Amino acid sequence: HILRAPHHPAASIMVKNLTVFGAGLMGAGIAQVAAQNGFKVILSDVTEKACQNGLQIIQKSLGRVAKKKFAGKQDEMEGYTRQVMGNITTMTDAGEAVSSADLIIEAIIESIKIKRDLFGFLDGKASRGCIFASNTSSLSIKDIAEACSPERQARFGGLHFFNPVPAMKLVEVIKAEKTSQETYDTLVDVTKKMGKVPVNCKDTPGFIVNRLLIPYMLEAVRMAERGDATPHDIDTAMELGAGYPMGPFKLLDFVGLDTTSFISEGWREKADRGQIPKELVQKSAMLQKLVDEGKLGRKSGQGFYDYS
Ligand code: CAA
Ligand code: NAD
Repeated sequence: HILRAPHHPAASIMVKNLTVFGAGLMGAGIAQVAAQNGFKVILSDVTEKACQNGLQIIQKSLGRVAKKKFAGKQDEMEGYTRQVMGNITTMTDAGEAVSSADLIIEAIIESIKIKRDLFGFLDGKASRGCIFASNTSSLSIKDIAEACSPERQARFGGLHFFNPVPAMKLVEVIKAEKTSQETYDTLVDVTKKMGKVPVNCKDTPGFIVNRLLIPYMLEAVRMAERGDATPHDIDTAMELGAGYPMGPFKLLDFVGLDTTSFISEGWREKADRGQIPKELVQKSAMLQKLVDEGKLGRKSGQGFYDYS
């Protein structure tokens, strides 16, 4: 079922069936945008509850998209929502979820071990030609891909979307050491078919956006910890003084404090190996306390701010 795209100048592979792993903030958004653009999507998570959570995120966001697209025309809005939802199936059995996948996009928890376990398992289940991609924020694509066979490593790249996926236009496409040109071209092609703008990134910590954004957000937390300013004043300052749509604390809550904490933990290990400056990723007691209390940001109802 994998065909060459006849009209495409680059040697990319035609992708029709897409499987997304992780039905959280990012996986739901990726599945939604793919389904809006005609891909057949399987959304897979470990529990039925998590799959339902993903579908709820999609329904809510699709409501916004449809409202804007059809200016309140109820029949057309409903028809569109039905059509997009019709392109999405959920599945908890990971092996079954990839049985006819042309492309897998992984958006599960930011843990190298869990990602490697999943990809190692999928390597034996997906077709030989299936392309694997990770939406990791901060981990090395090469390190994740090494859980797979050498042939698969050539068909493995990074596809990094931004939150909220339906609204953010950028996708960072990462060509790791072993990623083939055909795989890279296919990932760029899929990105464009999803209506997004690709940028080319090397397999460096945080690629482009997070290499700048994560140290900035962590320094904002340290600023509040030092008592230099309150989170609210720092947010107001960056929104009104630097024109950012959200200040760093609103953005931390939006991204998820657990995710940010996983990223900085992973980077502290990289800092120990000299791959990233240590001072950028110093541990923050304030951030850790919120995570320990289960205050993970918007998705849990509370973080630096209260959303209940
Ligand atoms: N689903 C669908 N559409 C959405 C949406 C969603 N969940 N959220 C926002 N939108 C759309 C709105 O419909 C609206 O569209 P139009 O302009 O075409 O009307 C547009 O986005 C703007 O939304 P709003 O007017 O409701 O609100 P806003 O102007 O406050 O924008 C925002 C909301 C886009 C989230 C904006 O606040 C923003 O850009 N925030 C910063 C987000 C950011 O930096 N994300 C990156 C996080 S880092 C990351 O993702 C990488 C990582 O690895 C951690
Ligand atoms: P999330 O916590 O909202 O969702 C993660 C989902 O993965 C959960 O539903 C969980 O049940 C599921 N999961 C965990 N292990 C799994 C497994 N083995 N198989 C299938 N599903 C599994 O997290 P998120 O914010 O969507 O982040 C997901 C990935 O995307 C992470 O790698 C993160 O770094 C990256 N990312 C996050 C953002 C962001 O702003 N939150 C932006 C870009 C990239």
